[in-house]
Amino acid sequence: MEIIHNPAAMTAWSKVERAGGRSLALVPTMGCLHAGHLSLMAAARRRADLLAVSIFVNPVQFGPDEDFASYPRIFEADCLAAEEAGVDVIFAPETEVVYPPGFQTRVQVTGLSQGLCGAGRPGHFDGVATVVAKLFNIIQPQLAVFGEKDFQQLAVVRAMVRDLNFAVEIVGHPIVREEDGLAMSSRNRYLSPAERQAALCLYRALKSARRQAAEGERDCGRIIASLVTAIAAEPRACVEYLQIVNDSDLRELKKLTDTARLMMAVHIGRTRLIDNGYLLSKR
Ligand code: PAJ
Repeated sequence: MEIIHNPAAMTAWSKVERAGGRSLALVPTMGCLHAGHLSLMAAARRRADLLAVSIFVNPVQFGPDEDFASYPRIFEADCLAAEEAGVDVIFAPETEVVYPPGFQTRVQVTGLSQGLCGAGRPGHFDGVATVVAKLFNIIQPQLAVFGEKDFQQLAVVRAMVRDLNFAVEIVGHPIVREEDGLAMSSRNRYLSPAERQAALCLYRALKSARRQAAEGERDCGRIIASLVTAIAAEPRACVEYLQIVNDSDLRELKKLTDTARLMMAVHIGRTRLIDNGYLLSKR
């Protein structure tokens, strides 16, 4: 496995491989790799001859009061995990090389970036779209895999690729969960044992919404109200948003349809967790 820090060297590597007729898949990450990331890598591996993983904690997608400085960085362990997952190349640039003095461009996907996580994290998805556009240009993959864990991010990336004519196929990958249902996340390591238990309220909410849908409830307002009440019973939890949206345009739904998806952001103590899932059909 190669480890490349320099963007020009990364582009050169990619050009040589593609000139040799090999296809390249990319899994962009911020490191602190867990089984969710590894599952994305396995899916990417199956779809291309070569697999690139980027590890870059992207400062421009963090707000001023967010956890950029404390975000877990375990590069050596990540390299071992990536090597075991059959990764061919890791791209891990320095911040100053990605954003040199004078950097002043942002990629903005206007509509999809506004609600849900975008409402509580202004500028977040501009930062994501900007770095993903840069990674696509530097690494030049044919295909890139993103997790449904960050469902809004996946929608934003798909829109950017379509609107800006990137020649990259975007593949969405289902959420990987711990045995008890908690969605895997690099931020789960911030949780104390008591908070780890409290964090299960997100998955319980998803299961409750699915149960209500299966029993015939179609009023989104009533489902959401019941989930808010259930989460309020957990003293360590504080809801940022709970919405049922249409999975393609992320517009809020009043009546449940086959395309409905529950979207949640809940703070457990000082840790912000997100989760989501289909309610009626697994499309
Ligand atoms: P990061 O949070 O490291 O996640 C990298 C990828 O792993 C994302 O596509 C995310 O959706 C996916 N992922 C994380 N946890 C997952 C889980 N439990 N199941 C399935 N997929 C999961 O998302 C980012 O980094 C950044 O915003 C990035 C796209 C790299 C841009 O900086």
